[in-house]
Amino acid sequence: MRKPILAANWKMHKTISEAVAFADAFLPLVAGVTNAEIVLAPPFPQLASVAAALRGSRVLLAAQNVHPEKHGAYTGEVSPTMLTDVGCRYAIVGHSERRHIFGESSAFVARKAASLLAHDLLPIVCVGETLDEREADRTFAVLEDQLNGSLVEVPDARAAEVVIAYEPVWAIGTGRTATPAIAQEAHAMIRGWLQKRFGATGDAMRIQYGGSVKPDNVAELMAQPDIDGALVGGASLEAASFAAIARYQENSK
Ligand code: 13P
Repeated sequence: MRKPILAANWKMHKTISEAVAFADAFLPLVAGVTNAEIVLAPPFPQLASVAAALRGSRVLLAAQNVHPEKHGAYTGEVSPTMLTDVGCRYAIVGHSERRHIFGESSAFVARKAASLLAHDLLPIVCVGETLDEREADRTFAVLEDQLNGSLVEVPDARAAEVVIAYEPVWAIGTGRTATPAIAQEAHAMIRGWLQKRFGATGDAMRIQYGGSVKPDNVAELMAQPDIDGALVGGASLEAASFAAIARYQENSK
């Protein structure tokens, strides 16, 4: 049984006071959610304040990125040990904005994922095709390539701790959500790849969908057999909206 995981990726939004106000408003709204993991990923400077605000709750903290090295001359970067120190449990790696805007390769994503596992952090590894790639019928080839490259350093014994996020680039921030059927088709392909690579562990690994997830479409996405969670951008910026997403099970009976 895969525990659903609903994560908020705030991207480059919110000051410290806005982030803490979110946490204060959000926690009472999700206090009753016990059968899903809820994760907040603020920008780096807000992590410590959000960690303090979340203390004593079940909501977990994530970073939006990490550098694979533990320390050193890497101006502007943040190490996995710094993330554990500030209270993170997860870190997102390979987000399409990092791949496409900042030119990150799957090989670099692979180093980050492996380093997170080595430092007791859980990676959320993002994959997803662009619109051009989908229209050229290359979706599965692109996903396979990204999975091959990004997970190459994950030891078999640690695979169950890795979360995959399928985020079709054409659905991110566009209001154009993949239909549940389109999302499930990609998730099933990813599941097949995970099973081939990690054997039975592939069944236990969680695959989130991301791309214009909203309170009114989350339940039908989560009803798909291979969709185990959501990675939410825009709709995670308001406490009530992300709480409604985190509480989707109340509306999906
Ligand atoms: P939106 O929910 O704003 O489409 O963003 C999705 C995303 O990129 C989450 O990582």
